[in-house]
Amino acid sequence: MKRSILDLKLKEPVFVTSPSLPKFEDYTKCLEQIWQSKHLTNDGPFLKKFELSLGQYLGVERISPFCNGAIALLVALQALRIQNCEVITTPFTFPATPHVLDWNGATPVFCDIDPKTLNIDASKIAPLITPRTRAILAVHVYGFPCAIEEIQAIADTYGLQVIYDAAHTFGAKYKGRALCDYGDIGMLSFHATKLFSTIEGGALVSHSDAVRQRIAYLRNFGIANADTVVGPGINGKMNEFEAAYGLLMLNQMDDEIRKRNALADRYRELLSGIAGITVFGGFEGLTPNDAYFPILIDAEKFGVGRNELFALLAECNVNTRKYFYPLCSHYPCYSALPSASAQLLPVAERVAEQVLCLPLFGTLPMETVDTISEIIKRIAEEHASKGQ
Ligand SMILES: Cc1ncc(COP(=O)(O)O)c(C=O)c1O
Repeated sequence: MKRSILDLKLKEPVFVTSPSLPKFEDYTKCLEQIWQSKHLTNDGPFLKKFELSLGQYLGVERISPFCNGAIALLVALQALRIQNCEVITTPFTFPATPHVLDWNGATPVFCDIDPKTLNIDASKIAPLITPRTRAILAVHVYGFPCAIEEIQAIADTYGLQVIYDAAHTFGAKYKGRALCDYGDIGMLSFHATKLFSTIEGGALVSHSDAVRQRIAYLRNFGIANADTVVGPGINGKMNEFEAAYGLLMLNQMDDEIRKRNALADRYRELLSGIAGITVFGGFEGLTPNDAYFPILIDAEKFGVGRNELFALLAECNVNTRKYFYPLCSHYPCYSALPSASAQLLPVAERVAEQVLCLPLFGTLPMETVDTISEIIKRIAEEHASKGQ
């Protein structure tokens, strides 16, 4: 098998993502302005402009930029006073999601996921609610939409708040509205590995002036004015260098998303017929951003398992990622929780063993998508022919 796929080995390594960058000359012009003004951080002119343009681009009314997504999420929970309680969440996510709960003294209560969206399974939330439950912290993983209406109905019935870790959703829309704009607060990440980046960065989308104001206080040490500190805030500010970078990046986003949509469509076309491979797409109401391209590998039907496919692709210079493995419920800090039991999370357990994210970014050549798909197809065919 190896010799045949090695014929397709890429000349240079390809990684799961590669950041889209602004033009260097454009960024140096911004740097000159920052140097002249000596306004490096603390609500400077680039941040003000970025905040406005970001809100306009996403079509959201209230957005608050942050130094990164994790601190933004930490502040979201503080802003809504979700502390010392239980919060229902997904185990199939990046470590930051449950960690911000722990840092707020809240216990994560893991809920299984829906095999169709890989997001929290709304039909399994209600039985997990106790008198200590205050909120649902759901994740629109890979930019795929959660069951937004069902989750909101549960929250309304039981008097819970809904926070979305919308780290992956930049540019994605659900029913014509930004996916990050649902729930009580939505969090975006602008980390360098994300579709839209400010190098490090993030934002919170909120829905009332009072919550937005509270977020602003908490992001800046709780400082209200020169004489008043209203609460125990933290430093979550975005600086001028990141804001200027983000401002330039916004101009490139339509193009970046268009290219990703075309590349993801090609992957779907080439991979969807292969036995044992599951691809995702066509979610009702979603205008996709194609932030990631996850596939599931059923070892029995495909012939080799996820870990073997990961290694074979790496030999061909195709570097994939096992997002999100291991499950958060397996981390030593959470594995003793009653809700972390593997028997309660059968779908998440299976998906974490089967998932692999393939390279996807705007500058990835279409021919590389063809080659990666061909390698995967050949692995399937050669295994099938061996079995005959
Ligand atoms: C689902 C999810 N939540 C939270 C984060 C944390 O964001 P940041 O890296 O900007 O702190 C990330 C990403 O890195 C993520 O993927």
